[in-house]
Amino acid sequence: MIDLTTEIQRLKQDRNAVILAHNYQLDEVQRVADYVGDSLYLSKVAANSKQDVIVFCGVRFMAETAKILSPTKTVLLPEKDAGCPLAEMITAEGLRTLKSKHPGVPVVCYINSSAEVKAESDICCTSANAVKIVASLSDRKVIFVPDENLGDYVAKQIPEKELILWKGHCVTHAKVKAEDVKQVRELYPAAKILIHPECNPAVVKLADFVGSTSEIIRYAEESEESTFVIGTEMGVVCTLRETLPNKQFFLLHPGLVCPNMKKTRLESVYQALHNHQYEIDVEQEHILSAQRTLERMLEVV
Ligand code: 13P
Repeated sequence: MIDLTTEIQRLKQDRNAVILAHNYQLDEVQRVADYVGDSLYLSKVAANSKQDVIVFCGVRFMAETAKILSPTKTVLLPEKDAGCPLAEMITAEGLRTLKSKHPGVPVVCYINSSAEVKAESDICCTSANAVKIVASLSDRKVIFVPDENLGDYVAKQIPEKELILWKGHCVTHAKVKAEDVKQVRELYPAAKILIHPECNPAVVKLADFVGSTSEIIRYAEESEESTFVIGTEMGVVCTLRETLPNKQFFLLHPGLVCPNMKKTRLESVYQALHNHQYEIDVEQEHILSAQRTLERMLEVV
């Protein structure tokens, strides 16, 4: 039987490839990755990668983002059906209709969106920089798509702005209810509750800290506290338990497992490199506008 990790390392050299993995990926995938992080960090890595091939262990919009930022590279998504239901909650046509109702209002799109939606937007953002990106715009009114929970969080941080929100949400984070947070507070009164801004506003309001996946990890690393309840996908809890064995981590809700992120296994990474699959293509007509939307974001942060 072949040792997948050894074979992946060999194929990676052969193909001059780099492996990127999101914080939600399985441990076995994170261990073979060259870079692991949140959406913002991984898009910066993709934009600056020197290798010919980028294997993106995540979901489709992440691999598409890598292709838009590095169009001359081959970008591989190891599981072709790893999508993001949130990104699929908006179409470019829907966005055009919304824009026509608010002429001249700039559009900020969350990175969890298709290349076509990015191409229709003015500037992109991730959960790590959404507040900064919206604050960087001189306009008072801003269209924010497609995550209404993140949009609501941003609006509360910058009350002088008026945000027009699209009604999209992450189906995994939406499982958490305010009642769940109240229950864990009672159960673990000393614990810090760290929550992703994709959770609904009633949940976010009860958090001790709100941040992107990497910001949650950093908070737990730097905190003097020893017990944490994590309000984002299970992968973050796995990483924290492994890297901080002297601290205790609980998942806020048992449903915080993203089925799309969990599709990629070590075997998928091996097959991706071995069979050169599944190559991401972004239509030429969208690539330049989507690139401008992403590059504007990278100029701000
Ligand atoms: P981060 O940018 O915080 O890693 O989040 C990505 C994501 O899709 C969260 O569900």
